Amino acid sequence: MSNRNGIGIEINKDWIDIYHNICDLESLKPQKMIHGDSRETLKTFIDKKRYEFDFILTDIPYWKMDFVEKSKGTYKKVGEDSKGIYSEKSKLSRFSSDSKYFERTKEDWESLIGDIFSDCFSLLKSGSYCAVFIGNMYHKGRYFLLNADIARILGQIGFILKGEIVWYDVNKKLHLYGINYSWIPSIVHQFIMVFRKERNNTLNKEEKESIQTRNLEIIKNKSSIKE
Ligand SMILES: C[S@@+](CC[C@H](N)C(=O)[O-])C[C@H]1O[C@@H](n2cnc3c(N)ncnc32)[C@H](O)[C@@H]1O
Repeated sequence: MSNRNGIGIEINKDWIDIYHNICDLESLKPQKMIHGDSRETLKTFIDKKRYEFDFILTDIPYWKMDFVEKSKGTYKKVGEDSKGIYSEKSKLSRFSSDSKYFERTKEDWESLIGDIFSDCFSLLKSGSYCAVFIGNMYHKGRYFLLNADIARILGQIGFILKGEIVWYDVNKKLHLYGINYSWIPSIVHQFIMVFRKERNNTLNKEEKESIQTRNLEIIKNKSSIKE
């Protein structure tokens, strides 16, 4: 609608079909949509040296959120299965049926995010922005600040955090989770974390040196893994 050209990457073909259906319904010209794994596709962009992006927008997987049972029962005991009729699992948002993704630890997720955003950093023009959609999650009795993890991981890569937008989703209903047993909040918001790849000349000497050192460490670690 704003006459920009975009390239999308999505691993689950169902979402790509939905995107094309929406383009048809709204009479929009479809943008280039690649069905694939970002971990591989971004590397091919880097290898081809043809691509440089003005903006990167990502709606990443929220650690295990794709796989966690959405409990919408009126109440349930801690550890007990939800009461069936209101319980739902969306198969659509699953990006792989591979069991290794079901068992993905927080460390696996952080390393995946680190790999993908290191490539995003290489592909983004200096002075340009990267916006990351992320929601925090409640899992096994504990609340995880995934937005804080994202700020830390992208900061280590060299992105500068510029701000956050809280997206209150008015369509999300409030639920009585944990009633009679514990207090569990309904999560009705997500974050859009906004980062910038600063132009080199706006960084001070220490910042430049620290980014260079970190990049060298990443390269060294990657080459020692290959060896
Ligand atoms: C939080 S969902 C976003 C879904 C959709 N954009 C929406 O607005 O509802 C994360 C998306 O990332 C996709 N995904 C997960 N890992 C991926 C990867 N390695 N490469 C490409 N897409 C991936 C999933 O299939 C899923 O559609």
